[in-house]
Amino acid sequence: MKSAKPYIEKNKERFLDELIELLKIPSISADSAYKKDVLKTAEAVKKQLEKAGCDSVEICETPGYPIVYGEKIIDKKLPTILVYGHYDVQPPDPLDLWESPPFEPVIKKTKLHPEGAIFARGSCDDKGQMYMHVKALEYMTKTDQLPCNVKFMIEGEEEVGSSSLEWFVTKNKKKLANDVILISDTGMIAKDVPSITTGLRGLSYVEVEVTGPNRDLHSGLYGGAVANPINVLTKMIASLHDKNNHITIPGFYDDVEKLSKKEREKMAEAPFSLENYKKALDIDAVYGEKGYSTNERNSIRPTLDVNGIWGGYIGEGAKTVIASKAFAKISMRLVPNQDWKKITELFKKHFESIAPEGVRVKVKPHHGGQAYVTPIDSLGYKAAEKAYEETFGKTPIPQRSGGSIPIVALFEKELKSKTILMGFGLDSDAIHSPNEHFGVWNYLKGIETIPQFYHFFTEMSK
Ligand code: BES
Ligand code: MN
Ligand code: MN
Repeated sequence: MKSAKPYIEKNKERFLDELIELLKIPSISADSAYKKDVLKTAEAVKKQLEKAGCDSVEICETPGYPIVYGEKIIDKKLPTILVYGHYDVQPPDPLDLWESPPFEPVIKKTKLHPEGAIFARGSCDDKGQMYMHVKALEYMTKTDQLPCNVKFMIEGEEEVGSSSLEWFVTKNKKKLANDVILISDTGMIAKDVPSITTGLRGLSYVEVEVTGPNRDLHSGLYGGAVANPINVLTKMIASLHDKNNHITIPGFYDDVEKLSKKEREKMAEAPFSLENYKKALDIDAVYGEKGYSTNERNSIRPTLDVNGIWGGYIGEGAKTVIASKAFAKISMRLVPNQDWKKITELFKKHFESIAPEGVRVKVKPHHGGQAYVTPIDSLGYKAAEKAYEETFGKTPIPQRSGGSIPIVALFEKELKSKTILMGFGLDSDAIHSPNEHFGVWNYLKGIETIPQFYHFFTEMSK
């Protein structure tokens, strides 16, 4: 495969303009007020896939948001790569912390991105990274170099749990048959330290509700005499970790995959600066489970975190009140062998059991998914390694990520193929945060590297 560099150089402005158009549509899957925009984004993705050279593209209806499916089959005897990505984005709030509006993309230079970075919700997660694949396909078809078959499956519900995709995949196994799945929805260590993600954490997401008295009460007349749901909830949550920051739910660690000393030593070799880590977050110390490094805490160990907590009066000034109810949203990141449904049950049982007298507790499971690990000796991994060597001049480092793409474990189970996670984002890109951005260099480097993967995967399959 010839280097895509000259083609990219020539078409760079258009590649950026097209992505910017896509980023202008607020495809927020979590908020039904944006339904029209989510649907509009699916149409836009369809159009771009057609332009890039897919033979057929369909908008596949589901019980939720549609899945855009496209393919170009050149020869049934050749390998087939299935590309997955998502066109939905996270809600942009808090809006006032954005330096420019989240759906009015601008390119600005930053310290890490002297060539400029595209600031917009979805720029990195995942419209920008998904679109790299569309442009890589354009390069291969327009220069007559597509070496194998390709299928695209771009969904619109990743940020809310991919429930329709699960339905779609189990119903369409034949249509989706492939030799390897390729995803760019993760990150890499640094611009000069390419890495391939070999693991994702699983997830169990729950919402809890603590109810005390049947109405909000005067905190003077009743304070001290009835259980205050907010006091109770915070106490219950605090008890979920012990003094070593281990999670106290009985059975929580039973199935946790234990890494050998050798594996942990290998992990510790990846370049990492604790000083820079703290500096980037403006914190004077890191925090976490005793006995594990920062990189282990955020990848190979399970966690429990409150994502939101509310109740009572939060308006201006003071209101003396004991709320009738308090709520929290809690996520548990899981590691290989932990079953998310079992963990959700353990959480529910435990949380209900620690409720003191005087309150009622409800636990509502949201969504979840299994963790994923992939070996580094598979054909797909080796082909990806070669692709990075070609475009970065360096062997990429395998790295387990702390994030989750719950559907990946299901792909392996249902479609029986390995997933290769070629992510080009940086930790500092602020995905899910205000001022999300994606480096122009990273975007173009992705477009350059992807065709090499097609080439090596096809060659090595022979
Ligand atoms: N692309 C992210 C996941 C990710 C980011 C993995 C960076 C590794 C590195 C994905 O869109 C995401 O945000 N997933 C959610 C889970 C989902 C069920 C809402 C997550 O990890 O919180
Ligand atoms: Mn994503
Ligand atoms: Mn995301």
